[in-house]
Amino acid sequence: MQLTFLFAAVAALMLGSASARPAQMETQKRDVFVPPILYPHAGTVWFSFQRHNVTWNATGAPATISNEALLLLAKGGLEAPFILAKGFDLRAGRFEIEVPYVLADTNYQLVLFGDSGNLSPMFTIESDTPA
Ligand SMILES: *[C@@H]1O[C@H](CO)[C@@H](O)[C@H](O)[C@H]1NC(C)=O
Ligand SMILES: *[C@@H]1O[C@H](CO)[C@@H](O)[C@H](O)[C@H]1NC(C)=O
Repeated sequence: MQLTFLFAAVAALMLGSASARPAQMETQKRDVFVPPILYPHAGTVWFSFQRHNVTWNATGAPATISNEALLLLAKGGLEAPFILAKGFDLRAGRFEIEVPYVLADTNYQLVLFGDSGNLSPMFTIESDTPA
């Protein structure tokens, strides 16, 4: 699947930056935290330019999280990822985003990266906000 390839590519990028510090890797325990996305869920409908809190289950989050948070917009696994947010606090359990101006469709997904990506169910973006 193409999305699997996408994950592998982004994961390789992240691993690449981590392996640049091999000495540090040996001495520091890395906290792996990959929280599941709670919202948006199947049935969610967003309009472009609206603001929404993306939420995830932050229960059990370690005190320090070494991996950089990254939130991407994907579409049916077929298109290049769109970065919605980067470097936010994974322990907060939410992050407010503005829905980008994209074509209306029913197969959008979010990808939340801790160490590996967690994919949301497919949801709808209706593009232009109704008048
Ligand atoms: C997102 O959550 C924060 C904290 O609860 C709240 O202040 C803010 O209004 C929320 N944003 C939206 C768009 O609902
Ligand atoms: C969040 O994760 C905790 C620990 O895995 C679990 O017990 C809880 O049911 C989850 N909550 C939601 C809303 O999924």
